[in-house]
Amino acid sequence: MAQDMIRMENLSYEYNSIEGNNQLLAINNVNISVKKGEYLVILGHNGSGKSTLAKLMNGLLLPTKGNVYVNGMNTRDEEKIWDIRETAGMVFQNPDNQIVATIVEEDVAFGPENQGVPPLEIRQRVDDALRIVDMTEYKKHAPHLLSGGQKQRVAIAGILAMKPECIILDEPTAMLDPIGRVEIINTIKKLNKEEKKTIVHITHYMDEAVEADRILIMEQGQIVMEGTPREIFSQVEKVKKLGLDVPQVTELAYELRKEGINVPQDILTVEELVKAL
Ligand SMILES: Nc1ncnc2c1ncn2[C@@H]1O[C@H](COP(=O)(O)OP(=O)(O)O)[C@@H](O)[C@H]1O
Ligand SMILES: [Mg+2]
Repeated sequence: MAQDMIRMENLSYEYNSIEGNNQLLAINNVNISVKKGEYLVILGHNGSGKSTLAKLMNGLLLPTKGNVYVNGMNTRDEEKIWDIRETAGMVFQNPDNQIVATIVEEDVAFGPENQGVPPLEIRQRVDDALRIVDMTEYKKHAPHLLSGGQKQRVAIAGILAMKPECIILDEPTAMLDPIGRVEIINTIKKLNKEEKKTIVHITHYMDEAVEADRILIMEQGQIVMEGTPREIFSQVEKVKKLGLDVPQVTELAYELRKEGINVPQDILTVEELVKAL
């Protein structure tokens, strides 16, 4: 449908083992769409298939079965692959592996240079991207001297400079300290709310999922839960059975209820809990 940014139909993906005789079904018949403008969070413990799904979303991997459409383009269509990668940009876990230049602004310019964007427009895009991630004052700095959160923001700026409509972030905060994590979460929110980017944010930190429009939980290559943060985290027992934690405040509310204290089941923020008590 026209409003779908990414559509996955009967999607399966098998890795071949090195021996070649046993296969691993990493994605098992998934049917999911990401709507234009949506802020989607994908949760799941290690090995549940999140990174594989992310790579299928922009044609880094091609389906074993089924199809993936990015803005209507099938990732199997070889002629569309660059178009697809420009539409859906990907940010990975380790910022050090994504930074290619020795000066911040040159790093951010790398993507649009490869796209053949004219120099004047590159200048504009680099300035815009650095402003959006709040790194303008570091544009002449050396990336390797920045903090983890700053490096990851430079990596995000590099993707932004290619003007994607959709940004897929695969555990972008996993290697960051708490300050860096907050920087990245705020940046992601801004990309969605102000820059109107469609966001697919993969994480295993529950508290990062609270502000999503929708959450998917993966388990053994399948989507086992789907809903708004409130719908998901009000099912504390079920989420825990999947080996995941609920946000700290939700957990506290859950424990209070168990002790017979009457608080609602779907508390998501400290403010809500304080109000309920
Ligand atoms: N390159 C690979 N070759 C073989 N198996 C892989 C490869 N990458 C991932 N897998 C397997 O696929 C499954 C899903 O992995 P992955 O998508 O990385 O999960 P997650 O990102 O949720 O940790 C796991 O069982 C993992 O061991
Ligand atoms: Mg992963």
